[in-house]
Amino acid sequence: MRVHVSEHPLVAHKITLLRDQDTPSAQFRQLANELVTLLAFEATEHLPLTSVAVTTPVAETTGPKLAGPTPLVVPILRAGLGLLDGMTALLPTAEVGFLGLVRDETTLKPSTYAERLPQDLTGRHCFVVDPMLATGGTLVAAIQYLTERGATQITCMCLIGAPEGVKAVEEAAAGLDVEVYLGALDPRLNEQGYIYPGLGDAGDRLYGVCD
Ligand code: URA
Repeated sequence: MRVHVSEHPLVAHKITLLRDQDTPSAQFRQLANELVTLLAFEATEHLPLTSVAVTTPVAETTGPKLAGPTPLVVPILRAGLGLLDGMTALLPTAEVGFLGLVRDETTLKPSTYAERLPQDLTGRHCFVVDPMLATGGTLVAAIQYLTERGATQITCMCLIGAPEGVKAVEEAAAGLDVEVYLGALDPRLNEQGYIYPGLGDAGDRLYGVCD
């Protein structure tokens, strides 16, 4: 598995704004989307291209165009929804599948409460988006779901990750074509399983507290 931690100054700047507890939800949402667009720019660097004919106002020529099949963006509900617009801003032709995974705050294990994905993902490049890579349980479950349906290429996009989560995904993705793109890699998890220093609960920061 390949792990990329962005070194782009705009990413670093926006992550600091995102971490600030005084950043209001509206600005948090905007920053989260801007950040994932920047990460997606890096993560789509090697998308395959095909050559097509194009007629300009001046001449007939050929040019590169994204080759099929259509990529699939999979936001992990609920917090991953906060990154969807930023992904489709860059990949407007992508299809979108949904996976609802909730983390039990005591055991820190994920369970599935919603799923809407194509049955057959053979040959599809899947971009899983979830703001926080903490224990890695959610991404591990998502990777299992997608590979069971035939996906062979999975790119995970997270704004902030912890080494514990990276290790868990690395173990689960052994032998698979999985990449992880992070905006920042923080030092560790705290006793409650939150990324430290992190930004708190990404879902709550995006959408408010729902009990
Ligand atoms: N989920 C979050 O939203 N934040 C964390 O720090 C860890 C998991």
